[in-house]
Amino acid sequence: MKKIMIMGAGIYQVPLIRRARKMGIYTIAVSIPGDYPGFFEADEALYINTTDYEAVLNAARERQIDGIVTVGTDVAVITIGRVCEELKLSGLSFSAARISTDKSLMKECFEKAGVRTAKFRKFFLDTPVEEVLENCSDMQYPLIVKTVDSSGSRGITRIDLPDRLPEAVEAVRAVTHRDYYLVEEFITGDDFGAQAFVYDGEVLFVLPHGNYQFHGDTGVPAGHYVPYPLQPEELEDMEKQVTGAIRAMGLDHCAVNADLILRGGKTYVVELTGRGGATGLSELDSVYLGVDMYEQILRSALGERPDFPADGKGKAACACKLLQSPATGTLTLLKNENSDSDPGIVEIVLDHHAGDKVRAFRVGPDRIGHVITKGCTLAQAEQALEEALGKIRVEVVNES
Ligand SMILES: Nc1ncnc2c1ncn2[C@@H]1O[C@H](COP(=O)(O)OP(=O)(O)O)[C@@H](O)[C@H]1O
Ligand SMILES: [Mg+2]
Repeated sequence: MKKIMIMGAGIYQVPLIRRARKMGIYTIAVSIPGDYPGFFEADEALYINTTDYEAVLNAARERQIDGIVTVGTDVAVITIGRVCEELKLSGLSFSAARISTDKSLMKECFEKAGVRTAKFRKFFLDTPVEEVLENCSDMQYPLIVKTVDSSGSRGITRIDLPDRLPEAVEAVRAVTHRDYYLVEEFITGDDFGAQAFVYDGEVLFVLPHGNYQFHGDTGVPAGHYVPYPLQPEELEDMEKQVTGAIRAMGLDHCAVNADLILRGGKTYVVELTGRGGATGLSELDSVYLGVDMYEQILRSALGERPDFPADGKGKAACACKLLQSPATGTLTLLKNENSDSDPGIVEIVLDHHAGDKVRAFRVGPDRIGHVITKGCTLAQAEQALEEALGKIRVEVVNES
C-alpha cells in the first residue's frame, strides 16, 4: 500500500484525502493540532506544524512515505520541496518551493525570464520612508505594498498617494516573517487566474478561470468560473506568460496555481505557486476537463504520469461560489433546500452547523460552505448557481 502525506487537514485538503483513500492509498494528514476535519478523514493524524520542514522530513523518513502533496495552501509548499528533494520523491524542488513562497524571489525570476509582471522594488522594513519614496519616484501610482510571504491578501495595501506609505509598511510588518517587502505598480485590469500542471518538466495544460471577487482593496476570491473567455491571441499570450513563469521558477512536477491580471489583452503574472488552487478550483477543473484533478495530483505525487485529455476541449462550463454569512455571530440555521437530483448541481458543501460561531465574510476562511454548478454554457452554469444559492437558507444571530 502506497503512503502519502497530505499537508494540512483543513476544508481544502479533505477532498484530496478522500480521493487518496478511494485510490487505496494510506493517508497521513499533517497539521498543527486543531479542530480540522482532515484529521478524521485520514488514516493517520500527525500533529506537526507544516512549515517545520525538518520535523516533517524526519516523520516522512520514519514512515517511509511514497509521496507528499497538498492543495489550496501555500504554507506547506516549502516543506514539500524539502521532503521531495531529500527523499527523491516526485514533486517540486526545494529551490522552486523557496521561490514559490517568497514573492521577491519570484518577481526577480519573472523579470530575468521576461515574464510580464508589475514593475516592482524590494525594500527592507527599516529603510526610511523618504528613501523608499525616492527609489519609487519613477513608479506610477497607485502602488501596491505587499509582504513577500503571506497569502489571502494579508498585509497587502493599495496606496494612491505617497503619504499612505507608512501605514502600508505597518500593515506588512504586522504579518510578515521577513525583514523585507515589495512595492509594485498597481495593474488596473481584470483579475483572473489559471490552473496548470507540469510533469517531468512538461507543461501538460494551462486552464484560465474567472474570479468572483469579494469587493475590497485587493481581490479576495469568493468563487471562480471556467471557462474564462479570452480571444485566441489573448489565450496564446496567457499561456506564454504562465509557461514562462513555470520555467523561470523551475517548477517541474506539480500542479500550478496562478493569479493573473488582464490589461489591454495582455496577461500580467501577479504570483504563481506549485500547488493546486483553493475555492473549488480543483472541482471546476475536474468538471471542465472530465477527469478527477485530485486523482491526477495524487498520481503525480506518487511518480505516475497524470492523465489529462489530449484534446483540451471543455466538457462543461462550471461555476463555484463560497457560501457567506451575512453577519458575525451564531449560526441558527444553515439548510440546503436544493433537490439532490438537480442535474445542474455538482456539489453543495456546508462547513457549519447551527450553533457554530461564524464571521461576516471578508476573507476566504470566513466561508461557511460552497456551491458548484455546471451547464452547457457559462450562462447556464451561472444561472444554476444563483438558483442553488437561493435555496440555501442562512440565519445568523448578530453578536451584540
Ligand atoms: N501589482 C498588482 N496590481 C493590481 N492588483 C494586485 C497587484 N498585486 C496584487 N494585486 C491584487 O491583490 C491580490 C493579492 O495579491 P497576491 O500577490 O496574489 O497575494 P496573496 O498571496 O495574498 O494572494 C491579487 O490577487 C490581486 O487582486
Ligand atoms: Mg494571490
